[in-house]
Amino acid sequence: MQITYFGHSCFSVEIDKSILLFDPFITGNPLAKDINLNDIKADFIFISHGHQDHVGDVIEIANNTNATVVSNFEVINWLESKGLKKTHSMNIGGKCHFDFGTIKFMNAAHSSSMPDGTYGGNPGGFLVESAEGKFYFAGDTGLTYDLKLIGEFVHLDFVCLPIGNNFTMGVDNAIIASDFLKCENIIGMHYDTFPIITIDKEVAFDKFSRAGKNLTLLNIGQTININ
Ligand code: NI
Ligand code: MN
Repeated sequence: MQITYFGHSCFSVEIDKSILLFDPFITGNPLAKDINLNDIKADFIFISHGHQDHVGDVIEIANNTNATVVSNFEVINWLESKGLKKTHSMNIGGKCHFDFGTIKFMNAAHSSSMPDGTYGGNPGGFLVESAEGKFYFAGDTGLTYDLKLIGEFVHLDFVCLPIGNNFTMGVDNAIIASDFLKCENIIGMHYDTFPIITIDKEVAFDKFSRAGKNLTLLNIGQTININ
């Protein structure tokens, strides 16, 4: 699996011949000013919830790439009202087969409203299972026992967890979350984009390493391979 970070909670993961893009928020992210929207490729775009910093660029990228957009029922309804046609709606606990493997939409402890205030359904995260590996993209969430359910049943190669605090869990709770998920490899997200979610990266690395975990913080635009 090849993973590229586009800032905030936006990653692409290439699995087999499919590119999965998560929570595109490039325009409006001052840290991602060097990323060109037109360079971003996607076959599928996954939206964890309706907040602006997760749906920000979905319409433009979907139109550029002809990707299928996957999210909860209410987020998809709203995106369809804005003209998107290649869509797939899910809801909590549902699993669906795609070209690259399966997606299960899981509970997140957060809120969800669209940028114009429309109700945005329940926020979630995406459990991705494929022949190349398995991972969990947690979206925006606080620490919740629900994460234990995933760790009980699936062996994850890595997990994308928010670590910026204030709106989501911070570093200390992300370490506990990774215990719940039974996963040692954590890719941090949802930090540093705004002053209120700025973290001390050295402290974060230190805390994860003391807990016996590997924290990866990617530079914006950086690509890594896992497996
Ligand atoms: Ni949010
Ligand atoms: Mn957010």
